[in-house]
Amino acid sequence: MVMDIEIDQIRLIQPSLAVLVTSSFEGRDALLTVAWVVPVSYVPSRVAIAISKQRYSYEIIRRSGMFAVNIMEFDYVDSVYKAGTLSGRVVEDKFRECGLTRIGGRSLPIAVVKEAVGVLECRVRNVFETGDHDLFIGDVVDAYVKGKYSTHWDPSSYRPILYISEGHFLTIDSGSVVRYMMG
Ligand SMILES: Cc1cc2nc3c(=O)[nH]c(=O)nc-3n(C[C@H](O)[C@H](O)[C@H](O)COP(=O)(O)O)c2cc1C
Repeated sequence: MVMDIEIDQIRLIQPSLAVLVTSSFEGRDALLTVAWVVPVSYVPSRVAIAISKQRYSYEIIRRSGMFAVNIMEFDYVDSVYKAGTLSGRVVEDKFRECGLTRIGGRSLPIAVVKEAVGVLECRVRNVFETGDHDLFIGDVVDAYVKGKYSTHWDPSSYRPILYISEGHFLTIDSGSVVRYMMG
């Protein structure tokens, strides 16, 4: 059966990784869930995130010119859900509300999430208007991991948070992993 999809076409390309993006500007912290996150260059190392102008975090990221991508494991799915539904405009301490610990970045003067298994600290290089979201391209200035990682996550133990849409989160079934020898 062929179905016409008039809205939500964009969700055909999900699930995607759901991360926590953080930033800080003049004593205010940004913390929000972002599923529109993508690598855009290896060398130099760059990532892109799409952020709606409606987010409290938008202005903080825009004005500080910095953000961190915090990679969370599936144990933190509740926190990621909360950070994606509560706004910093209405809660006083969004880190605490989401059950997370705020620490300072290793290289940049912005908030990062202590519980993250991986962090990419980025300086905003360009911002493009793409529609109802703006695309922030970040130069990765520092990156660090706590988890099992060599050149990539270990597929037998990594439990990423993936998001389909409409409240549906999932992770990898390690039994589904297939490996080809590359190159
Ligand atoms: C799983 C998930 C993924 C999301 N992805 C994005 C995204 O890529 N970009 C975005 O602007 N908002 C995204 N959101 C919405 C924001 O995280 C949400 O509006 C959040 O409450 C904004 O917080 P703030 O107002 O404190 O910045 C997502 C929400 C969820 C639950």
